[in-house]
Amino acid sequence: LTSGPFQNVPDRDFTIGSEREKLSTALAQVRSQFGQTFWPVVGGQARTGVPTAPSTDPAAPGTILALVGHAGVDLAEAAVQAAEAAFKSWYKTSAAGRAALLERVAELMAAQRSTLTAWIVYETGKAWREADADVSEAIDFCRYYGEQMLRLEATAQRRDLPGETNAYYYRGRGVAVVIAPWNFPLAILTGMTAAALVTGNAVIMKPAEQSSIIAAQLMRLFEQAGFPAGVVNYLPGKGSTIGAYLVQHPRVHLIAFTGSLEVGQRILTEASIVRPGQRHLKRVIAELGGKNAIIIDSDADLDQAVLGVVQSAFGYSGQKCSACSRLIVIESIHDAFIERLVEATRSLRIGHPKEPGNYTGPVIGRDAYERINATIEAAARQHRLVYRGDVSELQDGYFIGPTIFADVEPEAALAQEEIFGPVLAVIKARNFDRALEIANGTNFALTGGLFSRSPRHIVEAQQRFECGNLYINRKITAALVDRQPFGGFRLSGIGSKAGGPDYLLQFLEPVTVSENI
Ligand code: SER
Repeated sequence: LTSGPFQNVPDRDFTIGSEREKLSTALAQVRSQFGQTFWPVVGGQARTGVPTAPSTDPAAPGTILALVGHAGVDLAEAAVQAAEAAFKSWYKTSAAGRAALLERVAELMAAQRSTLTAWIVYETGKAWREADADVSEAIDFCRYYGEQMLRLEATAQRRDLPGETNAYYYRGRGVAVVIAPWNFPLAILTGMTAAALVTGNAVIMKPAEQSSIIAAQLMRLFEQAGFPAGVVNYLPGKGSTIGAYLVQHPRVHLIAFTGSLEVGQRILTEASIVRPGQRHLKRVIAELGGKNAIIIDSDADLDQAVLGVVQSAFGYSGQKCSACSRLIVIESIHDAFIERLVEATRSLRIGHPKEPGNYTGPVIGRDAYERINATIEAAARQHRLVYRGDVSELQDGYFIGPTIFADVEPEAALAQEEIFGPVLAVIKARNFDRALEIANGTNFALTGGLFSRSPRHIVEAQQRFECGNLYINRKITAALVDRQPFGGFRLSGIGSKAGGPDYLLQFLEPVTVSENI
């Protein structure tokens, strides 16, 4: 157990030539490995012979990166059995031993950082800096949850009296299914899995179909670190078949999910049903969507605010649950701010993320591309389009230029429904009070931001802005493990914050043992 505050691993500095060189080399190396097949791993064995599906580069969809073996229901059943068998001894291992294995994973990630980053760039279309930050966050999760588990164990309660001892401690719950999204393809999958493992659960990782190669890399690291067979299983495949099967399974104890509200609601419904042979109630941890707002106060530092909004709204093409999709600007500075915002947005370079100069790459795939473009077309008929990035020069790939609408009514669909793309709705507010009211006027409550120099308004926002993570005078994305525990409430999710001190408790069963001596 280390003393002092947790230390986040630093991101790479790509302004340094040698750092750029390392990632360029890794991108070339990874490219030379295109075309392999990644198979599900269940009970310590690669399960070949299942049907495969290609994983392609969203910036060049004709490029097949690899084939991924898709598990069906039979293999999902085998995974539950393997995890259940492994759990029997895994939960009895020491927390120190489990944390040490996670530390080993963190070391392997650090050593293979460039390769992991390169796969993230290719498979999910993330720009260099953000792909690199994804690896940093994954490393932090392994170390942070390791430390937290040791802390929980060290502070376990004992109440011993003459003739009686009382212990209060925690035990793993059983088989945990981790259903992860593609947008933080390494970080979020690692975070949920590391939390489940270090608390003594056996895990079935069901990665998003769009990021199954990156998940295969993580599985490889778990194997290299020495996790026993069956303690962690890699089960790529279709959410609609194996995801649904696992959620309903009577011998699954816990489901950790990050993704859409729609799927989250379905998981909560299905998981609440006690099926024949099931002897427990399932625990669901669900981190869902957002419709996050930034308020620009009349006295905001506009340089700082423009940068913060651009990063929050258009970083990774807005494909973050934490992204800014509503911008609420006080009337008196509205026009000046929009003008500057549009100019800053115009300067963003879009293109294949393998090029370090590109600020953003494509959206994740064809479905997203069509859906987001249709949303933009529909919105353009109703709202004032002030900017739409031109991507006509980009021949190939699912590129969508950053798009800004102004004079959007707070109740409009564009200002209420999550888009998960580079689309920003600007809403004018007559004063700060009204701005807060608008900010709170959605069903989500994930992140929020304020740019202001007024101490009174900053305090008021702290009291009244309804969101899980409030950021003042900075961007509203890129929460750091431990420093900004992350998660929302209302329709944004149920569960304690990822990367925060209460997160692990959700994966544990508290037990009291009282002995008469
Ligand atoms: N943790 C991420 C962020 O803060 C979102 O999942 O941007």
